[in-house]
Amino acid sequence: MCGIIGCISNKPVAGMLLDGLKRLEYRGYDSAGLVVLENGVFRWEKTAGKIKDLEELLQGQTFSGTIGIGHTRWATHGSPSTCNAHPFFSCDNSVAVVHNGIIENYHQLRQELVRKKHRFQSETDTEVVVHLVEDYLKAGYKPIEAVRQVCRRLNGSFALVFMFTNHPNLLIGARLNSPLVVGIGRKEVFLASDVPAFLRNTRRVVYLHDRQIVALAQAGLRQKGKQTLHIIDFAGKKQSYHISQVRWNIQSAEKEGYAHFMLKEIEEQPEAVRRTVNYPHLSVLEPFTERLRDINRVILVACGTAWHACLATKYAMEELVRIPTEAILGSEFRYALPPLDKKTLVIAVSQSGETADTLAAVRAAKEHGVFSLAVCNVVGSTLTREVDLTLYTFAGPEISVASTKAYTAQLSVLALLTIRLAAIRKTITRNMEDKLLDELRQLPNKMKTVLRNKKIIEACAEAYKRVGNFMYIGRRNNLATAYEGALKMKEISYTHAEGYGAGEMKHGPLALVDGSFPTVAVILKDCVYEKMVSNIREIKARGGIVIAVATKGDKNISEIADWVIETPQVLEITSPILAAIPMQLLAYYTAVKKGREIDQPRNLAKSVTVE
Ligand code: G6P
Repeated sequence: MCGIIGCISNKPVAGMLLDGLKRLEYRGYDSAGLVVLENGVFRWEKTAGKIKDLEELLQGQTFSGTIGIGHTRWATHGSPSTCNAHPFFSCDNSVAVVHNGIIENYHQLRQELVRKKHRFQSETDTEVVVHLVEDYLKAGYKPIEAVRQVCRRLNGSFALVFMFTNHPNLLIGARLNSPLVVGIGRKEVFLASDVPAFLRNTRRVVYLHDRQIVALAQAGLRQKGKQTLHIIDFAGKKQSYHISQVRWNIQSAEKEGYAHFMLKEIEEQPEAVRRTVNYPHLSVLEPFTERLRDINRVILVACGTAWHACLATKYAMEELVRIPTEAILGSEFRYALPPLDKKTLVIAVSQSGETADTLAAVRAAKEHGVFSLAVCNVVGSTLTREVDLTLYTFAGPEISVASTKAYTAQLSVLALLTIRLAAIRKTITRNMEDKLLDELRQLPNKMKTVLRNKKIIEACAEAYKRVGNFMYIGRRNNLATAYEGALKMKEISYTHAEGYGAGEMKHGPLALVDGSFPTVAVILKDCVYEKMVSNIREIKARGGIVIAVATKGDKNISEIADWVIETPQVLEITSPILAAIPMQLLAYYTAVKKGREIDQPRNLAKSVTVE
């Protein structure tokens, strides 16, 4: 949600800013802009629309500025338009700002500034920030102090980056509940919402913490090693920092010949799961063995696709670990707090580690002394810093807004955790533990088999690309698969799709069924197989179309269903991982055939950093 890139270099930065913005496109946006400093004045362009529209505006112009900031905006306050696009400027055009987040008290601040005769150019919440900084500078504060004073007056969430005409070698960034990362290259320094924005230039990063302000300068641009990085907190106290090395490379964040990131990421799943279930990662649990033995309740919390991973896990957790387990939506958690105490294990699941509602849930839970664990894909993200312990998914960067490889990696690490907890609490035998771990180890190869179903899935997408509605049904842990399948279909193909408990069909949705209504049914050889067969027969008896995701060689289903997509036989704990793949591919091919945007669906953002 909104992308920020700032850069100071020894050469013109406009190209690097544009490239950085392109690499942040996955976050979702509806307008874009950039500014550089040239001969003491700001030169900027901004526009509603996509980066290519911004590029068109820049065509034929030469920008020599060696410091600049760029932004992609996902509209919250004010429609997506050129005047609401960032950057914004102070009345005297000496300060520029870009922002990710929401300034909740902007209305009062705006009234105060209007009374002081500040002129506003936009309807956004952001613009107050730059006028406030202008006031503090006029009152004699140095830039970093002016920014600090302003940050203390802002409510809400923000990642902000400022530049100043009077300080041509200075970028200032500040963050509260929105991500901001520093990149330290040999010849450039960067500030960005996420690492891919500058990964082409450097893998050395400093993850800023909440309530920190960073001043970035590059003294003596042509001299090596003279970059300066100075961090203070909102109270003005100097902060130490740690430079981390990003492990993945720029190729992981590129399409590499695939038509879309989504397809590339679907294909990468066997490898992502293989890396993730490498169980030495679980050694991080060891110091907490006693605490984990003692818990009497598990709460899984997340948003979107990650919540489906939680829901699927609940069943295995209750069955194998014998602990009451709930999967709660991050957006609900704060407003309906379940009973929590130090014997509660809260597991927050998030690809990005920046989802506002998931973070808020963890914070609320921690106030009750719970033991908190994150399942996360992004090293150094906010979530990983808030919890007692993190288990990483090793999916690599996920660029497509619709989550695929992060989901199956989440399911696998949660399965691994479930097995470990069961072993710690001795609710499974050693033999059973070995059998389950072996199953996880074999999973990547089985996933490759499911990926070979592309042709039949594509044909199925072709057959139903014009229908207006899909139903997805499943039971137990594959109810989560049904929800996830419907979500994938909605978000990228814009076709209405609903996930439903198969046993609930006769309590309402059966009324929808006719000869043009397709139902995707997850029917695997598990303990609810017979029940699912009956549910499918009920649909067929009313002339409905059934697309079954079924176990390889299940002749019974081939006779009943219109389409069968086969998956290898697996144990129940891992079946949602295999069953997710046909769901992703069906949504993908339907969206391709409908000419949708795939990687950046309309109105959606990859990382939802506001409530
Ligand atoms: C957005 C994304 C989804 C994702 C959800 C939660 O809605 O489009 O793909 O599942 O946020 O994100 P997280 O980063 O917390 O997993």
